[in-house]
Parts: sequence; C-alpha cells; structure tokens
Amino acid sequence: MELTRLRGFRDLIGADARAMSLVEERARAIFDRYSIKEIRIPVLERTQLYQRSSGETSDIVEKQMYTFTDRDEGETVVALRPEGTPGVVRAYIEAGLDRTDPEQRLFYSGPMFRRERPQKGRYRQFYQFGVEIFGRPDAACDAELLIMIEEFCRDLKVPFTMEINSIGDQKCRPAFREALVKWGRAHWDELDDDCHNRIDRNPLRLLDCKKDAKVTESAPNSLDYLCDECRAHFDTVKELLTGVGIHFVVNPRMVRGLDYYTRTAFEVMAGGLGAQSTVVAGGRYDGLVETMGGAAVAGIGFAIGIDRMALALEAAGVLSAVAPDAAIIAMGPAAMRRATLLARVLRANKMNVEMLSPERKMKTLLARASKIGARYAVIIGDDELARGVVQLRNLKESTQSEVQEVQLGEAARAIAESRTK
Ligand code: HAM
Repeated sequence: MELTRLRGFRDLIGADARAMSLVEERARAIFDRYSIKEIRIPVLERTQLYQRSSGETSDIVEKQMYTFTDRDEGETVVALRPEGTPGVVRAYIEAGLDRTDPEQRLFYSGPMFRRERPQKGRYRQFYQFGVEIFGRPDAACDAELLIMIEEFCRDLKVPFTMEINSIGDQKCRPAFREALVKWGRAHWDELDDDCHNRIDRNPLRLLDCKKDAKVTESAPNSLDYLCDECRAHFDTVKELLTGVGIHFVVNPRMVRGLDYYTRTAFEVMAGGLGAQSTVVAGGRYDGLVETMGGAAVAGIGFAIGIDRMALALEAAGVLSAVAPDAAIIAMGPAAMRRATLLARVLRANKMNVEMLSPERKMKTLLARASKIGARYAVIIGDDELARGVVQLRNLKESTQSEVQEVQLGEAARAIAESRTK
C-alpha cells in the first residue's frame, strides 16, 4: 500500500496555506464589522440531517456524502458534513434559540467533505466560511449580506461579478416547477440522461443541464412566476443594492443545487479560476427551520469557498510573499547565547526573525538567509559580542552597518514598519 494522500484531498504547505489563512482572517474581520457571532459545530452528524435539509434529490445527498455506520449501540448512520447550513440550523433549534431568542447572526468555518470529481477548484475536502442569519424575513437583510460579500471581495482585491435571482417561495414555486417539467418533456431529445432524471425528481436543476448550455435558453425563467410578495421582496433587494452602488447581474436562470432555498439566491464568480469560478454562494431558506422541527423562523445565509478564493488571490497576483525581515547569524556558542537574547528584543519590537543554525559556515548561512527571502542578516561573532554591537547587513542592497545592541530595538521597529508599507 502506498501511503499517499487520497484523491481530491490536499496538503497545503507554506504560501498555499497562507493564502487560505489570509482569506479566513479577512472574513473574520468583516464578520466582526457586521456583528456576526461565531458558532462551532461538529464535523460528523447524522446522515439523516442532510437528507432532511440539503434535499434527497440534491447531488450532495444522492452521491457525494462520506457516510458510514458508527459502531455504537444504535448503529447510527453518520456523515462527514458536506455543508454547514444543516448543522447550524440543527444547533440553533437544539439550543432552543428559535423560541427564546430567534434573531441570530452566526458564522462558522472549517472543512466540508463531498465526494465530487476532483479538478482545479473542486476538492473532496474543502473549506468554507459560512454565515447564517435567523429571524430576519425582510429584504434589508438580503441586501446587507450582499453588501458585506461585495465589501469582502473588494477588500481582497479579487475581480468578481455578483449574480442574483429570486426562485420564489412555497406559494409560487409549484407553478414554476410545473412549467419546467412541461418544458423538459418537450425538449426530451435535447437533454441527457442526467437531466431526464431531473424532470420528475428535481425540475429546478434542469436549468443546470450541462450538455448544451443553449438548450436551456428556451426554458421558463423563475422571475416570470413570482407571486406579488416575492416580486416586491426581490424589487426591494435590488433597489437597496442599487442605492449603495453595488453592481450585480440578475440571472433569472440561476438555481442552486440545494433544496432549501426560497426567494433570493446569489452567486459570486471570481476571475482566473476556469470552470469552478463560484467563490461565494447562498440564499434565503425561509421554511428550513420549521421543516427541521423548529419554529417558523426565516433564514438566509451563504458560504465562501476558501480554497477557491485563495486560488483567485493567487491568480490576481495580490499575494505578497511571506519572508522574515531578518535572519540571525551567530558564530560560535557564546555569540549564540547572546543572539538568543537579542532575537527576543527584535521580536518584541515587531520584527519577524528566523535564527539560523550556529553550526554552519558564514557563507552557507548568508546563502540560506537569501534563500528564505530575508531582507537583513543580523550577524554576531566573538568580536561583536565583546564590543556590544551587531552587524546589520542589508541583503538586497549588499550594504552593512554596525548597530549598538542598545539601539537594536529602535532599528528593529524601523525595519518592521518599512515592511508593512
Ligand atoms: P454551495 O454552493 O454548495 O453552498 O457551496 C458554497 C461554496 O463552497 C461554493 O460556491 C464554492 O466556492 C465552495 N465549494 C463547494 N464545493 C466545493 C468543492 N468541492 N471544492 C471547493 N470548493 C467548494 C453551500 O454549501 C451552502 N451551505 C451555502 C449557504 C449557507 N446557503 C445558505 N447558507
């Protein structure tokens, strides 16, 4: 047996991991500004949870879940979470919040698992930052989330487009579904087997038929079927977005792959990603809490695909390399002891430093300092030790100056500041 990683699972090392962390840090910062609190939920849940919420006929539940029978007494069938929304809704109901304190703004983060066909931007373990807002049926909430997403993408300097749609609610969706079934039957020959299955099982997904994108051009569109309430809701969302200068495209053919959505649905696509370009996706799910045994509380949310957003950052070339400000080079055991102390002074003054092994030659150490991208080398030998100084070598400009130990803190601060500029 070869001990390699599984297909669709990734090791992220150095810069790749850093890109993901950067997206996560920025997401946390934005969520704070929008007063969204954190929730942590399990990675493993009952498989039934997803069947009830994501939908029996969704791709996730039909073919993508990592599910197995736990060896406990009840032989519970469990699944690695393919998405976060069902777990958050379960936790919300289980904590009694739907009755005691229904208005909640929550975010979660972590790995999700879907057994999909791996390709660039599509993995079997991927990371999401998700937001779920409960108890806000009003269109102002939809607009606030879209404004937050727009701000987040702009903050990351990733080129993006935002598409929105309304897919109606329990009242007006049946007529739309019926029209789609009728259309599907009339266009049977132009659809593939996958889509033939969707006609009865999940007609909304007919709009995602991939065989020939042109086929769906003649399909009915959801906006033509909206009831007055859903139309007014959607009009308000658009008006609020336009009012603050948010650019969006209405895509009346957008449907989402999960069953719980009602009314507003949205997706954000980033440039430079190829086929898997959707970096943020979500929508309203007003009936879900009730379907899962809770009170009739409205819900809306979205998830950011962290892996894809990190790829988009790399594609946009907006990631700066992470390198230490300085490498510390100590020659000999006495200098090493001093250097250990001085490294603390440098770090206390916000400098990022890496201590190199004292057991190598100066030439090797200078080469190592350049290799790790350090801008400076702080060099201490017996002579420097005796005189209470260090050599500060600018590796980019090949210049060198002597700095008194007592002035090292000040020099470190100046170097750290020049980094952030
Ligand atoms: P979703 O559209 O299934 O929605 O996923 C959201 C985002 O997660 C996608 O747009 C994509 O960026 C990322 N993603 C999904 N699958 C993969 C994959 N296999 N590899 C890499 N990235 C992936 C949901 O998960 C909903 N729970 C969102 C939501 C929250 N709706 C309401 N609240």
